[in-house]
Amino acid sequence: MTILVTGGAGYIGSHTCVELLNAGYDVVVVDNFYNSVPAVLDRVEKITGKKLKYYDCDIRDREGLDKIFAEDKPEAVIHFAGLKAVGESSKLPLLYYDNNISGSVTLFEAMENAGCKKIVFSSSATVYGNNPIPYKEDMVTGDVSNPYGRTKHFIEQILGDVYNADNSWSISLLRYFNPIGAHESGLIGEDPNGIPNNLMPYISRVAIGKLEKLTVFGGDYDTKDGTCIRDYIHVVDLAKAHLCAVRKITDSTGIEAYNIGNGKGYSVLDIIRAFEKVSGSPLNYVIGDRRAGDLPAFYADASKANRELGWSAEYDIEKMCEDTWNFQKKNPDGIK
Ligand code: NAD
Ligand code: WQD
Repeated sequence: MTILVTGGAGYIGSHTCVELLNAGYDVVVVDNFYNSVPAVLDRVEKITGKKLKYYDCDIRDREGLDKIFAEDKPEAVIHFAGLKAVGESSKLPLLYYDNNISGSVTLFEAMENAGCKKIVFSSSATVYGNNPIPYKEDMVTGDVSNPYGRTKHFIEQILGDVYNADNSWSISLLRYFNPIGAHESGLIGEDPNGIPNNLMPYISRVAIGKLEKLTVFGGDYDTKDGTCIRDYIHVVDLAKAHLCAVRKITDSTGIEAYNIGNGKGYSVLDIIRAFEKVSGSPLNYVIGDRRAGDLPAFYADASKANRELGWSAEYDIEKMCEDTWNFQKKNPDGIK
């Protein structure tokens, strides 16, 4: 079976390509390499010992997509392609709406045109906004504070309308919590351009000496140690959830959302301590001001994915830090 993976050269996409190839799927990647490099795909082939096909193509390019669907005839799509920087999205909302929403609509049109109606979509815990924790899939979503998060909410709604109009679609909305970690080979991992926005890549760049110190955004939250609580999930666990979702959408029609998280909350200081343990060195950090828009705490109720997808997270925080550190040490200047 052939799976078309948009954004397959990115952080989560590349780890998912490894799992798909290992499970015997044929993989066709569509990526415009805006936030990744083709060399990542060579590394995916090296890890798996298998070949994949890729196209340098933007998901807003309808003609390009039509040719790919005609040539490769994928049976299902996993849709990762998108921009994801929360802060940037508030400065450049139209870029985010064009890339994420127009891009997704163009992709869905190309799928419909080709008769390919099975899709796994990369959504985010951010759609839950200010709900009580743990987050559950049946909560009302959409009270989101930034354009990036709104693109995820809107795309979920669009896919809902697509399904309501044509019940032969099969759609899985995976709401990721905070993915960190890397493949244990150290060949692929999170490799952001410039100064990282997210906690784990920032920590690992401080640890390797590329950045001077981490600022912990706020030490006065109403949490066990004053720092924010998040549900961190190993990217390989997350990648495996896509395999379960692909099996589900090939078996049935419908639209379902699933939380993909560990179901456990860790504070920023918990992560720093775990990282220090695996790296064997103290991390240079200071406690600074709160970051605008941060929620004090959120984590998943992942029981629906456990029950209906037969998926559960395996790796703990220590393994997440170990694999991040291994990737950082083996790729001090990133993947070129
Ligand atoms: P990433 O930036 O590493 O990967 C995204 C990939 O999509 C990149 O390779 C990029 O070049 C490609 N891309 C972007 N716009 C494109 C376009 N118009 N056409 C073709 N390719 C395009 O990001 P990631 O962390 O792997 O995230 C993958 C998906 O998961 C995104 O949709 C993101 O919003 C979502 N998500 C990520 C997180 C996270 O914390 N990493 C959490 C929740 C949801
Ligand atoms: C984690 C914790 C920060 C950096 C974001 C998106 C979310 C989803 C995942 C895509 C927070 C703290 C961070 C730093 C810090 N992405 N922190 N110093 O904000 O939970 O979630 O990524 O869908 O939508 O919002 O992740 O890694 O930025 O932050 O103290 O330099 O680390 O305050 O508590 P976040 P993050």
